[in-house]
Amino acid sequence: MSDFNQRIVAPSLLAADWSRLGEECHRAIAAGGDWLHLDIMDGHFVDNISFGPNFVKHVRNIVADAYLDTHLMIERPDQYIRDFIEAGSSNITIHIEPEYDVGGTIAKIKESEISAGLALNPVTPLELAEPFLEQIDILLIMTVVPGFGGQKFMKEETMPKVAQAKKIRDNNNLNFHIEVDGGITPETASIAADHGANVLVAGTGTFKAEDMATSIKELRES
Ligand code: DX5
Ligand code: ZN
Repeated sequence: MSDFNQRIVAPSLLAADWSRLGEECHRAIAAGGDWLHLDIMDGHFVDNISFGPNFVKHVRNIVADAYLDTHLMIERPDQYIRDFIEAGSSNITIHIEPEYDVGGTIAKIKESEISAGLALNPVTPLELAEPFLEQIDILLIMTVVPGFGGQKFMKEETMPKVAQAKKIRDNNNLNFHIEVDGGITPETASIAADHGANVLVAGTGTFKAEDMATSIKELRES
């Protein structure tokens, strides 16, 4: 059983300088980042296009041992998980909102012996995820509408869900991290952690900070 009281900080490469990708990956890890978060956007499920499996593969070649937390914001995750597994993901998180076989796709991810996450948009009720909570390693509760970095943390819409997820996990001896993603600063990280989140994704709050090591320390200790 993982220790869900220990905070995990996951800098999001969406906010990195991609012209110096190698240096940026090493910088995030040297600054204390625990995981690297990779935001995959397809221009359909979200209104933005970011990068695909080749980018993940480059990152894997740069940092052989890093935990690569791949967040698929795409319309058909079931059709692409193989590519993201082969690219070297340590975890693949899929969204629950599109129409596809969610349970079967989680099972396929787990068959490859990497971890599986399920993500919910701010408006998506937790009840929809309940049938899958036994299968997953990470529940990602989006704290902004996904698609872009640098947005404002949606406290009212999302914190009750974080608290509810923690309650369900603890009451049923389930075993998933609760991750929050979007608008995470030391102030909002502390709110999210108080409600039960232990994995903190931050793009702007890490790569764009004046001093990444200080900002990661603040996120961890906030
Ligand atoms: C939002 C992405 C996030 C994004 C967070 O669509 O899923 O991972 O990089 O960016 P910040 O930390 O800038 O809100
Ligand atoms: Zn993300």
